[in-house]
Amino acid sequence: MADTTAILLGRLAAAFDQIELGADPVLRPSDRCDYQVNGTLALAKRRGQNPRELAEQIVALADLDDLVSSAEVAGPGFINLTLDQGFLERQLSALVGDARLGIATEPPRRIVVDYSSPNVAKEMHVGHLRGTIIGDSLVRLLGFCGHEVVRENHIGDWGTPFGMLIEHLVDVGEAGAIEALSVGDLDSFYKAARQSFDADPAFQDRARARVVLLQGGDAETLRLWRVLVAESVRYFDTVYRHLDVLLDDGDLRGESVYNDDLHQVVADLDQLGLLEVSDGASCVFPPGFTNREGEPLPLIVRKSDEGYGYAATDLACIRDRVGRVGATELLYVVGADQSQHLEMCFEVARMAGWLTPPAAAIHVGFGNILGEDKRKFKTRSGTTVKLVELLNEAVERAMTALRARNPEAAEDELRPRAHQLGIGAVKYADLSTERMKDYVFDFDRMLAAEGNTGPYLMYAHARICSIFRRADDLGTAPSAPRLLEPAERALGLALLGFPDAIAAAVEGYLPSKLCSYLFDLAQSFSSFYEACPVLRAEPEVAASRLGLCALTRDTVFLGLQLLGIDAPSQM
Ligand code: ARG
Repeated sequence: MADTTAILLGRLAAAFDQIELGADPVLRPSDRCDYQVNGTLALAKRRGQNPRELAEQIVALADLDDLVSSAEVAGPGFINLTLDQGFLERQLSALVGDARLGIATEPPRRIVVDYSSPNVAKEMHVGHLRGTIIGDSLVRLLGFCGHEVVRENHIGDWGTPFGMLIEHLVDVGEAGAIEALSVGDLDSFYKAARQSFDADPAFQDRARARVVLLQGGDAETLRLWRVLVAESVRYFDTVYRHLDVLLDDGDLRGESVYNDDLHQVVADLDQLGLLEVSDGASCVFPPGFTNREGEPLPLIVRKSDEGYGYAATDLACIRDRVGRVGATELLYVVGADQSQHLEMCFEVARMAGWLTPPAAAIHVGFGNILGEDKRKFKTRSGTTVKLVELLNEAVERAMTALRARNPEAAEDELRPRAHQLGIGAVKYADLSTERMKDYVFDFDRMLAAEGNTGPYLMYAHARICSIFRRADDLGTAPSAPRLLEPAERALGLALLGFPDAIAAAVEGYLPSKLCSYLFDLAQSFSSFYEACPVLRAEPEVAASRLGLCALTRDTVFLGLQLLGIDAPSQM
């Protein structure tokens, strides 16, 4: 079945071709009608034609009779389309029983998604929370659209800090270190290591020697390093399970994986004549990147102490993703503050010929999570907020809300729902904010049952499920929907907009587009449910309205699923 707007666009495009407009028609949903044809003004101007005249010409030529009840030229040259009821009903009945709800699959592309990527022996912070949630939703959306998605968790598991971390592990003893890390108190471990490093010159020497051993592949050093990595990964896993995201151990591709390639990367850059030595460091100066003084900015691939850094790893990583993985799209779901670093890496990779079309790298950036004071999110005592504690609090608050709604229900019946509600609320608050924007982390707002929130949609879904429980008792079954009342028609039209919402979310890597759509849909449902009794109506009308209920329930459920949110059928 073709999308409703795709059918309209097809017919309009045929008219555009006949007039030789040399452009594609653009449709916008509108308050005045259902859809408005946009862009005719600019086209008319280009042709030196009166825009209203052009609009009239399009309307006359486009074969829209079976699709619209009216096509009117309005204002300076817009075309207002009101869709035909029969057309809408036919489109809706094609959705009944379609598990994909009208969403077509795209020609598959192989897409690497780099996301989450926390650092070993360091607490995951709220930035990693955003990356994990946004990345998870994009992975689901792209996979659903038929793409081959390769998840990569590029954890920070290599580099000079491991010298001091391993020496600290030696000092506290392996068992003690495992115990300290297993409770998820990664930051204390890191801080203690740092303290010894800053306070004790002998420790510093040991740490430096240890880095050399690690880089040289010393067996015992590697064994100790693996202990640190394994304990951290175990901890990250508990966070991922708590968050219900798809990431698992098979997706780990940390910085250490590329260690053996770094030498070659730098040698190849040298061979290509791209390297310059600046202050003893080997650098590439990609054009177009300058500092505040207007001086060219270096991407340092090898430091003056001969060590390779983050940038060299990212370059090796790009080669790997294009070469070994064969991806044509490299997505980096990483905070906006790393934008310059990533853009410089992409540019250098292009200069070196490692990132050539059709392969492209895209930084899917995101803003910060702020505290109530609108500043960087910190606890009252000024320390970084632990992710797990935030998630636990969200679940506890959800539990309190559910207890109030269901005073009779047993605790263990409410627990799993509280988990879905609390985690869903956190995820939705994040995803519904346009990703480049900062937002304030506010439990009250994210858990509110009204407004554009996860709970609002989850309650809407549960409410429809409860209509079906009653319908089952009455023996009423849904049928293909008729759109007789204005509220039915509005809901039907909203349901048919799902494929466009998915397309917009995928195209801009913007889950927020899907959130806004689901919120609007739930509001249309609310108005419909207020205006149109379902189970109390005549049997035929009841069946048709149940048909609308079923499609709404399934659309909200699938939409939330693609955001990584599980909607319970009862709340
Ligand atoms: N580990 C890094 C951090 O915590 C993020 C890595 C992002 N991915 C990348 N390929 N650079 O900041």
